Amino acid sequence: MGFFKWVSLIFILNLFGPRSAFSDSSSTSNGLSEIPKRFLQYAKKPELFDWMVGIRRKIHENPELGFEEFETSKLIRAELDKMGIPYNYPVAVTGVIGFIGTGGAPFVAIRADMDALAMQEMVEWEHKSRIPGKMHACGHDAHVAMLLGAAKILQEHREELKGTVILVFQPAEEGGGGAMKVIDAGALENVNAIFGLHVAPNLPVGEAHSRAGPIGAGSGFFEAVISGKGGHAAIPQHSVDPVLAASNVIVSLQHIVSREADPLDPQVVTVARFQGGGAFNVIPDSVTIGGTFRAFSKESFMRLRHRIKEVITGQAAVQRCNATVNFFTEEKNFFPPTVNNKGLHEYFLDVAGDMLGTHRVKDLKPLMGSEDFAFYQEVIPGYFFLLGMENGTRGRLESSHSPYFRINEDAFPYGAALHASLAARYLLEFQQEVSVSDRNYHDEL
Ligand SMILES: *[C@@H]1O[C@H](CO)[C@@H](O)[C@H](O)[C@H]1NC(C)=O
Ligand SMILES: *[C@@H]1O[C@H](CO)[C@@H](O)[C@H](O)[C@H]1NC(C)=O
Ligand SMILES: [Zn+2]
Ligand SMILES: [Zn+2]
Repeated sequence: MGFFKWVSLIFILNLFGPRSAFSDSSSTSNGLSEIPKRFLQYAKKPELFDWMVGIRRKIHENPELGFEEFETSKLIRAELDKMGIPYNYPVAVTGVIGFIGTGGAPFVAIRADMDALAMQEMVEWEHKSRIPGKMHACGHDAHVAMLLGAAKILQEHREELKGTVILVFQPAEEGGGGAMKVIDAGALENVNAIFGLHVAPNLPVGEAHSRAGPIGAGSGFFEAVISGKGGHAAIPQHSVDPVLAASNVIVSLQHIVSREADPLDPQVVTVARFQGGGAFNVIPDSVTIGGTFRAFSKESFMRLRHRIKEVITGQAAVQRCNATVNFFTEEKNFFPPTVNNKGLHEYFLDVAGDMLGTHRVKDLKPLMGSEDFAFYQEVIPGYFFLLGMENGTRGRLESSHSPYFRINEDAFPYGAALHASLAARYLLEFQQEVSVSDRNYHDEL
């Protein structure tokens, strides 16, 4: 429905930054503040709630790893078909990009990741993972359900949309570089802003937490092969022992952060994998170690990367071993820091505050975790927040990536309504700004 000629105008507005779209904060005077409340009420309706829960449980039973989310993607498309929402598929292998609204500018994106983790679920319940060694332990099943919930809300209210909402169902968040592939596929061209959320087991249900600026660390992964010379464990003088060398390498790696990094600039180096040997009485030829490193700035990140390589090869040499260090490809295994746009933070405080009450929208301490949503934020203004799930009366929830991870589905209406409200109101406020800025371009309404 190309009856707007927005594109050049939008471009001009963008020069002033995204906050320019929200400079008029008199939201109460024009019904904007009612949108989040209405959408939450709608999302709490039993039909919508039960439907989201059903979708989430179905996905939970059949977890799929990054770029293998074929059944998950199929389920999403089936639901979009039922709602009459058009979409592009495949985008980035298994990804689905849906469209709701006028089909014209402005465009705002809301995103959910779809992939599971390679780990065994230990929670015994009716909808436990049916795939051995795979589990939705990060809540991406819940993210998909809530984004579909948002799609339903927005589709029901599509007459109110003053532009187009882009639904991004993204593959491979867990270290697979899915966001990067979505961007490369051109899915975010002309998109003015993007919003994303993550369920948080340790924050109260009904609350949303975030902050302006960095909220998540940049992260990279390394792997090293430390080679010596295998032999009989009782005759060590005839071998070059890579197990001891690797052990010293790991100890030395711990000194990079503790002795070289600024204590006020948070960083992490963790060796999480150690593979070598198979017998009690054989010194192996080689040992493979692997791990991750995190930092909030590119400089600190690159310094860690440089020193990790130096320390591994240097320390291995001390013990007559050779080492090769592999950082994989940058593209796949480096996540930039997750940095929230300042203007969008103010906007989020308004929208989430109107829905939940300002006392339930709280400031978040930056986390060492990383999120490939950061790739979107490198390209367009983006905003990421955490959605509370904890309900004190039901006991504590395990952290994500735990085999005992559980979801509190009571959080779904909040997540769905926040997604929908952030998108719908963004279009309205953007539109108003357009009309105020230049009425000549705005005579068709
Ligand atoms: C290390 O590499 C050098 C040069 O390639 C080689 O001569 C040596 O045997 C290697 N040592 C071990 C323990 O693999
Ligand atoms: C917490 O759980 C209790 C018991 O199931 C429930 O009655 C209550 O509504 C829940 N609170 C929230 C905020 O969801
Ligand atoms: Zn995760
Ligand atoms: Zn996650």
